Amino acid sequence: MTSSGELPINGNGDVVLVRQEVRAAALEAGLSLVDQTKIVTAASELARNALVYAGGGRVRIEIVRNGVRAGLRLTFSDDGPGIPDIEQALVDGWTTGNGLGLGLSGSRRLVDEFDLRSAPGEGTLITVTKWAR
Ligand SMILES: Nc1ncnc2c1ncn2[C@@H]1O[C@H](COP(=O)(O)OP(=O)(O)OP(=O)(O)O)[C@@H](O)[C@H]1O
Ligand SMILES: [Mg+2]
Repeated sequence: MTSSGELPINGNGDVVLVRQEVRAAALEAGLSLVDQTKIVTAASELARNALVYAGGGRVRIEIVRNGVRAGLRLTFSDDGPGIPDIEQALVDGWTTGNGLGLGLSGSRRLVDEFDLRSAPGEGTLITVTKWAR
């Protein structure tokens, strides 16, 4: 898979594969080494959240274009319980589990665009984009 595709996130091994595919796609999109690492880190956190809180999910990996700029867009989706209060979930340190509560807030800071849609009982959809500069 290079420019587009969807990967399942159903176990720890899948998180490793997601990291590898995102790294390869980030390189292909022309992201700098630092930016590759940032979006791989964000992808790792979002994949882990899908696994831990939703029991699994999937990610679409796309190279996108905005005029002359290329970028990498990742769309994570799951059919889990959803997030009742999105503002709260994005606060540094907020967790309903055993984590540090930094996955969502940290991911948001690591990318250029961050969109989180969720509702109780309707799963979660998170789209992040990082542009090559
Ligand atoms: N895909 C998801 N489905 C349901 N709830 C989620 C999902 N992702 C995050 N959450 C909720 O948002 C909270 C904050 O997530 P975040 O990733 O920031 O922290 P964490 O996973 O608790 O800890 P950390 O990622 O730092 O180990 C979670 O504790 C959980 O309640
Ligand atoms: Mg997390």
